[in-house]
Amino acid sequence: MARRIFSGIQPSGSIHVGNYLGAIKNWTQLQYEYESIFCIVDLHAITVPYDPRELPERVIDLAATLIAAGIDPERATLFVQSMVPEHTELSWLLTCLTPVGMLERMTQYKEKAARQQRESVGAGLLCYPVLMAADIMLYKADLVPVGEDQIQHLELTREIVRKFNRLFGETFPEPQPHVTQAARVKALSDPTSKMSKSIPGGAVALAEEPEVIRKLVRRAVTDAGPQPAGEMSPGVKNLFLLLESFAAPDVVQKFKEDYDRGELRYVELKDAVAEAMIAGLAPIRERRAELLARREQLRELLNEGARCARRIAQETMREVRERMGLQL
Ligand code: TRP
Repeated sequence: MARRIFSGIQPSGSIHVGNYLGAIKNWTQLQYEYESIFCIVDLHAITVPYDPRELPERVIDLAATLIAAGIDPERATLFVQSMVPEHTELSWLLTCLTPVGMLERMTQYKEKAARQQRESVGAGLLCYPVLMAADIMLYKADLVPVGEDQIQHLELTREIVRKFNRLFGETFPEPQPHVTQAARVKALSDPTSKMSKSIPGGAVALAEEPEVIRKLVRRAVTDAGPQPAGEMSPGVKNLFLLLESFAAPDVVQKFKEDYDRGELRYVELKDAVAEAMIAGLAPIRERRAELLARREQLRELLNEGARCARRIAQETMREVRERMGLQL
């Protein structure tokens, strides 16, 4: 049987080049190799304070961006988590199998909780990884493409799977992380941190206007103090990474040679990076705008995705209810 992959992405603001090169581009390739299910995880997005008036637009925007970037709804299943209620249902059942201590040890929980007043930390933030386990288990996914920061959550999913199988009988496969050598893009304004929209001047949105891209790249940090001999500074390395991702090989070659000869001019490199990015992102930007102009069609695509996901999810829930003694 073809192996099934599942991955989720939060609708928490616009997708940037780092998300694209680090994850989404990889998804667009995986959909040709595996049965693929991609989920816009709005229920995860509400575990931190958010504005309910903005959430629907974020979800729609993310869907349009994902499709514009190459997720093919004919090939992969693309859907919104809250449209398949089985996610919340399985999440509760799994919550009852998960030790609180394990959840309290999660790095992401500790970091996010530390940013809020103790009294305002929602229990949903603590239970976030259980919902993620439910996402994966509902579809009995074998492979989960995730970034470094989600490995710990996936490990917890595996523990929950093992416990479920031990207590209620062999039901779920242990999902494996699908790690690829995806590009780790850094923030333009701080090339020691990964690209993130919370770093001012650090991120380039996937649908960014050409003029803004030029400005952001022009201001990118290139020198970060003294470098060990023969090593590229993190900022220059990052620009080369972007150049390799968007420009033709001969352009990359030329700048590499300039660099080796000690003749690299940062302005020229930056111009080349900006123009290559603008050209590379143009089709995505245009496609996204087209999709957003036809919202009814986009909604229908998401409805269809949810119907398709739900068929699998309901099947799994029947089995789970039966095994957990919740079926009379
Ligand atoms: N927690 C993931 C993130 O923030 C998103 C996510 C939710 C996910 N459910 C998932 C990823 C299931 C993989 C599988 O990146």
